[in-house]
Amino acid sequence: MEPARLSINGHNAEFPVTVGTEDEVGFDILKLRGSTGAITLDPGFANTGSCESTITYIDGEKGILRYRGYTIEDLATKSTFVDVAHLLVRGELPTKKEADKFNEDLTHHSLLHEDMKKFFEGYPANAPPMSVLSTIVSSLSAYYPGSADGEDFDVNIVRLLAKLKTIAAFSYKKSIGQPYIYPRNDMGYAADFMHMMFAVPSEEYQPNDLLVRTLDMLLILHADHEQNCSTSTVRMVGSSGADLFTSISAGISALSGPLHGGANTAVIEMLDMIRKDGGDFKKYVDKAKDKNDPFRLMGFGHRVYKNFDPRAHVIKSNADEVLNKLGISDPLLDLAKQLERIALEDDYFVERGLYPNVDFYSGILYRAMGIPTDMFTVMFALGRLPGWIAQWVEMKKDPATRIYRPRQIYTGYTKRAFVPTENRG
Ligand code: CMC
Repeated sequence: MEPARLSINGHNAEFPVTVGTEDEVGFDILKLRGSTGAITLDPGFANTGSCESTITYIDGEKGILRYRGYTIEDLATKSTFVDVAHLLVRGELPTKKEADKFNEDLTHHSLLHEDMKKFFEGYPANAPPMSVLSTIVSSLSAYYPGSADGEDFDVNIVRLLAKLKTIAAFSYKKSIGQPYIYPRNDMGYAADFMHMMFAVPSEEYQPNDLLVRTLDMLLILHADHEQNCSTSTVRMVGSSGADLFTSISAGISALSGPLHGGANTAVIEMLDMIRKDGGDFKKYVDKAKDKNDPFRLMGFGHRVYKNFDPRAHVIKSNADEVLNKLGISDPLLDLAKQLERIALEDDYFVERGLYPNVDFYSGILYRAMGIPTDMFTVMFALGRLPGWIAQWVEMKKDPATRIYRPRQIYTGYTKRAFVPTENRG
């Protein structure tokens, strides 16, 4: 393809063009500053590619999401979370033998070092679960040091995948004052997580198969989403040479914000607020449209998807079926559907391409599982972990990787004289 040409400041420059396997086009501006003295300005990196990647493909206009070529719809309905984790982290769906080994590894590494229980004890019962998750993941690097090219690296990846669910469940048990329930090697990933969350020592606990499968599906839907805020954070921190655990811990912190993973909690809080306020959706749709009001319809809109979020489609069609089969009637599901209908008929939302995203309906399913609202973002982190790891490893192996270090356009004072304190009036 012809190089891109730019004329600025009296300089003419040419830039090589890179075309992806799905015909996405980008031009390489690495030499822009050297040849023209200018940089690009793109707040929020809305139009900036930070890397080339073979992991996830998204077409936001067509609502397409694929992990390593497989559609999200196929993976969510036909695969398992552990197989998808293998696909992301190791590059291919596992053979039967590889799947057995991967499952076995993920169960056998799920125990936490006993000393780590002391960390949970130090937190107040009402500690935000995402803070607990992030700090305990960060402290794993103290227990399992190792570099990306060291012998322990592969086993550290497995450790992290295996232990995150234990950390998540322990933080929940701590918050409700119940004894920790240790992982079981005879249960699959999602079933074991539910067991650690909901079992109590005095009773037999067998998780509901439908809920286990639903949880597995939700984890698959969250497993990767190319260069979103938390994933870019993971890559950015890792680009400095920081270890895997530290980088993932930073990603967990980035995910916690309400504009990102924290939105799933915010959706349920919003729906509950609308219900308590008499169910007047129109009032809240109007508030969301009012530029003087900071209120936004949580679970609506996406930086990339402008027609629909394919993850939201899968979840919505599942929510009805799961709740029906379980005989659960959740007033918030009806509220969510009515709010969606009203918003989607409104020009403001239509013109801006604002549709329900993955977080709009996921909370309804987490509620059906008995997962408390403040744990929803932790569920997102559990799902996203294989994607973060895959992206971190890809960043490490890419010879083009340099430390992430954007530039800026300075708009502050120009040089001025220093005035000693006693003369400042
Ligand atoms: N309610 C009302 N107006 C909205 C909303 C919303 N939820 N989202 C965007 N807008 C408006 C926004 O005010 C702007 O209007 P205008 O062009 O008149 O200034 C326009 O739509 C574009 O919005 P933006 O904030 O420039 O878009 P962005 O790409 O920077 O932000 C977003 C994307 C997801 C942060 C945003 O849509 C939002 O805040 N949504 C609610 C939070 C949410 O649900 N987040 C979860 C995202 S999906 C899970 C994940 O991957 O994290």
